[in-house]
Amino acid sequence: MTYMKKHLVLFFLLFSVWEVSYYVIGKVLPEDFTSDSCPPPLLAQNGSQTEKGESRIRKEYSHIREVKFSGSIGPLGEKRLCKIKCIGGQWVGPLCADQQDNGRFQPLFKNCKLEYINPHLLVTFKNITIHNPGVVFPHGSQLQVRCNELGLYKLLGTATPRCHNGEWTTRLPSCVPTTMLTNFTEDSPPTILIKIPSGSASVEPGGDLAVFPGSTLHFECLYPRRVGSPDWTWTTPLGQYLTGWAIASEERDWKYRLSIYYAKSQDSGTFTCATPRGITNSVSVHVVAVTCEPISVSGMHLTVRVEGTRLGHSALFQCPTGYVVSGSPNLTCQASGKWSSLVPKCEPVKCPPFNTPGGLEAPHLQLEEHNNSYGGRAVFSCAWGYKLVGAPGIECEISGNWSGKLPKCVPVQCQPPVLPVHGHLIQSESPGMDGGRYAVGSLVQFACKGAHLLEGEASIICTETGFWSHPPPFCKPRCPYLGEPENGLVAPTKFAYDPGDELQVTCNPGFESKIEEQRIKCLSDGKWSGVMPNCTSYEQI
Ligand SMILES: *[C@@H]1O[C@H](CO)[C@@H](O)[C@H](O)[C@H]1NC(C)=O
Ligand SMILES: *[C@@H]1O[C@H](CO)[C@@H](O)[C@H](O)[C@H]1NC(C)=O
Ligand SMILES: *[C@@H]1O[C@H](CO)[C@@H](O)[C@H](O)[C@H]1NC(C)=O
Ligand SMILES: *[C@@H]1O[C@H](CO)[C@@H](O)[C@H](O)[C@H]1NC(C)=O
Ligand SMILES: *[C@@H]1O[C@H](CO)[C@@H](O)[C@H](O)[C@H]1NC(C)=O
Ligand SMILES: *[C@@H]1O[C@H](CO)[C@@H](O)[C@H](O)[C@H]1NC(C)=O
Ligand SMILES: *[C@@H]1O[C@H](CO)[C@@H](O)[C@H](O)[C@H]1NC(C)=O
Repeated sequence: MTYMKKHLVLFFLLFSVWEVSYYVIGKVLPEDFTSDSCPPPLLAQNGSQTEKGESRIRKEYSHIREVKFSGSIGPLGEKRLCKIKCIGGQWVGPLCADQQDNGRFQPLFKNCKLEYINPHLLVTFKNITIHNPGVVFPHGSQLQVRCNELGLYKLLGTATPRCHNGEWTTRLPSCVPTTMLTNFTEDSPPTILIKIPSGSASVEPGGDLAVFPGSTLHFECLYPRRVGSPDWTWTTPLGQYLTGWAIASEERDWKYRLSIYYAKSQDSGTFTCATPRGITNSVSVHVVAVTCEPISVSGMHLTVRVEGTRLGHSALFQCPTGYVVSGSPNLTCQASGKWSSLVPKCEPVKCPPFNTPGGLEAPHLQLEEHNNSYGGRAVFSCAWGYKLVGAPGIECEISGNWSGKLPKCVPVQCQPPVLPVHGHLIQSESPGMDGGRYAVGSLVQFACKGAHLLEGEASIICTETGFWSHPPPFCKPRCPYLGEPENGLVAPTKFAYDPGDELQVTCNPGFESKIEEQRIKCLSDGKWSGVMPNCTSYEQI
């Protein structure tokens, strides 16, 4: 590289190639540049492309020949110095410094993804357990795989798959259940139960048993004695071990034992139990005098019970009521001299919050009070026109779960109003009407048929209580206008007459009606008390 560092401009952005995130910290401005400049490099945040920062740096990139940045690679975020180079108008790279190669910049090969982890498998990467599938590993990563329950399952396949340019060198191994789990069927590998009556041991990420010197171990190979006798073999050249059927009556017919007393480093090796059919299961022993750093508990609230600091000793952590252990509550001292996990923390119990940016999922539900700490409450209400169904308040429990489900808001509705006899609705449908029921705010208007008189409120509203604002009106009967008699007039003249109204007939000159018939009355049932009187001429009387 013949460029001179003119000056270093610091800016911060993330960018990604092959799903690896990089943190760009600097760029080098060359003294001389050609017209062969590169466009701004593709920027990505957490694997997805972003525009952020691009306009700010667009101009500046035209002079850039090389971008150096700190790459954060793999699931553990290993920091490596990486760079991309502008060659012939194109960005090339990234190339990352390789410690194994004297810090030379090497191209990054493709990552490998761990798609699925069988629940019986324990996958570790650099002594860190990988719990969830979907993790991406950089080229060259080596996983360590073992069966969760050493001795109960037998590992089938290679325990150390390695990522090579996007491909795993071998498939993930599988775990085959052993005799104890298969009811002692003859074609399954024998179970090996590991007993440590004195001393300590740790099951290592690679599946071997790391044993502190001086420990006593019993390996019990489970096989039905009536079928035949299994056989123990070992790879330790000088080792002499006691083997034979257990002595206690409840064990003597199915436990074929090998014992290691006061384990020494010479006892390191693989111990294999083979059934008469030649089906095997093994335990690899690694005797090593390792102690871990004493545990220092600095976190608030955390209490620990430490068995000791020797290999295989464990430390159990607890938090007081209202707190949960965040991290692993059980650490074991491992052969690496490290505890199996970081010291956990005590986090206050929190229930899943409801006041997230997404808000409450339930429609129309509103939060009146929200305290998602242990013992806190969430109190709900509904939007106008809705009522709450379910508990209006729930409590955050010690488990970190709410004491109940979210309540629901259902629309408040009024029953259809009773129609008055001789009446009808002018507005038979309201916008809020649903299955014959009316939503809050619906207005209905009544009218009476024919000459009937509306008494009460002509329009009523469905209120928040689920009841109408007023009772429905009545349609009172009225007497009809009968028309004018021949040769006479009626008074008063109305379209209809209220009950109690009287109708007076006045005959034209020369005509007359019977006195007793001259007045008729509108009765309360809407009928006239009599018929319309006739005006007859004098001559006819
Ligand atoms: C990117 O992912 C990391 C870890 O998943 C997260 O902590 C960080 O906030 C994310 N950044 C953005 C900008 O999404
Ligand atoms: C073993 O036997 C028990 C009881 O007889 C039975 O419930 C179980 O399914 C058997 N398991 C297998 C793997 O055969
Ligand atoms: C803690 O872990 C060790 C090793 O994994 C195990 O032997 C021990 O039973 C565990 N203790 C508890 C209380 O879970
Ligand atoms: C993982 O632990 C083993 C011993 O169990 C040790 O030899 C190795 O160095 C450790 N690896 C890392 C990356 O810490
Ligand atoms: C939340 O509830 C807890 C338990 O009742 C209480 O101690 C705490 O003060 C409350 N927090 C707030 C912010 O009100
Ligand atoms: C809390 O809720 C989760 C999810 O519903 C459930 O799996 C878990 O068992 C609950 N915990 C307790 C202690 O009830
Ligand atoms: C009036 O005259 C009509 C027709 O002539 C008759 O039908 C009716 O009965 C009369 N009414 C009375 C009260 O006499």
